[in-house]
Amino acid sequence: MSKLIVGNWKLNPESASEAEALASAVDRRGTVVCPPFLYLATLKKALKRAKLGSQDAFWLNSGAYTGEVSPSQLKSLGVKYVIVGHSERRRFLLESDEMINRKVEAVLHLKLNAILCIGEDLETHGRGGGAALAYIKEQLRRDLDNIDVKYLKNLIVAYEPVWAISTFQTGLRDTPENAQKTIEQIKDFLAKRYRLSQSVVLYGGSVNAANASGYLSQASIDGVLVGAASLKPNEFNKIGI
Ligand code: PGA
Repeated sequence: MSKLIVGNWKLNPESASEAEALASAVDRRGTVVCPPFLYLATLKKALKRAKLGSQDAFWLNSGAYTGEVSPSQLKSLGVKYVIVGHSERRRFLLESDEMINRKVEAVLHLKLNAILCIGEDLETHGRGGGAALAYIKEQLRRDLDNIDVKYLKNLIVAYEPVWAISTFQTGLRDTPENAQKTIEQIKDFLAKRYRLSQSVVLYGGSVNAANASGYLSQASIDGVLVGAASLKPNEFNKIGI
């Protein structure tokens, strides 16, 4: 199976014309581009090869929910992938596992691909001795609570250790070997608990052109979720090549 390369643009760029130019510069098969909501329609036209993704979705499809964007609106715009539960939303928007659980379910019910982000924080990581794995499993249990297993075939998990995100300056990041080990354990958990024998799990956290092949060459890592480097075509275009 070819590996999936997902670009998460976060709160960038500044204007629709920059978004259009960036989209054209990174448009290739096997990739997913996730711009801010307000550039989705522009990118739908600009992208010929890459798939369109969003960075979030609400858990209901209509109603009095000011400021929200529904999975069905995203679907009608041509969105195929929806990131849910990114650690920045958990942290800055106080998204709870209960909210994330409803979002994952709503996205999967529409047969969109949900990219569920999980990962331990620095404090948990520092405790060692299986603390990170216990934390991740608990996130998965809560985020997938009560979702009928028949919907889980469109689930993609992104393992993003929170302490390794946006850490290009400090150089703090997980090693490919350690990420491989954790992802193997995540897959094992998904297989045992949800009977998902073919789960898809990505790695994310300071992935760039220089280190991507280390992660992508690991047997259990099915792709990468890329933040900062997805805004630089000369970096992003080298990932997965
Ligand atoms: P980063 O972001 O590549 O800039 O660390 C990854 C992410 O937050 O998905």
